[in-house]
Amino acid sequence: MNRSKVLLDCDPGIDDALAILLACASPEIDLVGVTTVGGNSLVETETRNALAVLALAGRADVPVAQGCARGLIKDLTPATDTHGLGGLGYATLPPPRAEPLAQHAVDFLIEIILAQPGEITLVATGPLTNVALAVRKAPRVVGAVKRCIVMGGAFRHEGNMPPRGEYNVWCDPHAAHIVFHAGLPLTLVPLDVTYRCLFREQHVQRLASRISPHSPLADFPSPLLTFIADATRFYIEYHRAAQNIEGCAINDALTMALVFAPDLVTTQALYVDVELGDGPGHAGTYADFWKLTGKPPNMHVALEVDVERFMHLFVERMAGLAARTMM
Ligand code: RIB
Ligand code: CA
Repeated sequence: MNRSKVLLDCDPGIDDALAILLACASPEIDLVGVTTVGGNSLVETETRNALAVLALAGRADVPVAQGCARGLIKDLTPATDTHGLGGLGYATLPPPRAEPLAQHAVDFLIEIILAQPGEITLVATGPLTNVALAVRKAPRVVGAVKRCIVMGGAFRHEGNMPPRGEYNVWCDPHAAHIVFHAGLPLTLVPLDVTYRCLFREQHVQRLASRISPHSPLADFPSPLLTFIADATRFYIEYHRAAQNIEGCAINDALTMALVFAPDLVTTQALYVDVELGDGPGHAGTYADFWKLTGKPPNMHVALEVDVERFMHLFVERMAGLAARTMM
């Protein structure tokens, strides 16, 4: 099997944690490092969360480097309503034994990508501050990275940050602008597809029965299962209260799945830009669907997704990881 070497830049965050778990659960992925960026929580909290989730998955060996605490221009706006004060909803994890690297995330990203030209797939599921600074500090990263898969943007979806932004881009639209126009081999995974991938209570039940068909649901036999149940319960409550949606959008897990199952989505090559002004369109992402700008496409945008196949894949991979970590 050809394994993909993956660097994950993230802001864990509940769905970022699920993306980390999916990377650890997937034999197609060699997770070579995780970097954190201020977003859903304070970057220090996110770094601790990344270390703890990796330990939960039995991958405390994966190096974690802490990155920027806030956007290039904008202040940090943590999404505590969405992910909880600790960033992982109702879930609690043992304090990680591992420490983050002393190296800054931006330097870590540059070092790993330049050391293995054409080998590294960069998955970004938080604000793009670290990625933007990496391509500015070392432009050779653009030609050296194999693929760059970014969770962000909203096109025909109304957005999740006022007035119509998507959180990762909204937190740092200036960084998104740099990344969108750097010439990276970019696939963008917007809310248009991620908000169709809703993880529900029924998926928790299915996971529990896949793990231990005979034990009562109340005795979750697996710390991983307990984590997923407790983290997503908070996330589901948020989506119901704030957006009247039954289930929680596991945006970042879908993004990670595209590393090894790109055919889960249908993409279109498009010219995409981001609004940097402070008007009603602030931080909005706009695609030249009708080829009116005369500008060449700068990315592939995922516009359709095979929801059933992804949700089945995610539950199966979590069941497999839970079984392995119960031993
Ligand atoms: O808009 C959704 C994105 O913002 C997800 O990556 C979520 O974790 C938050 O970072
Ligand atoms: Ca995220």
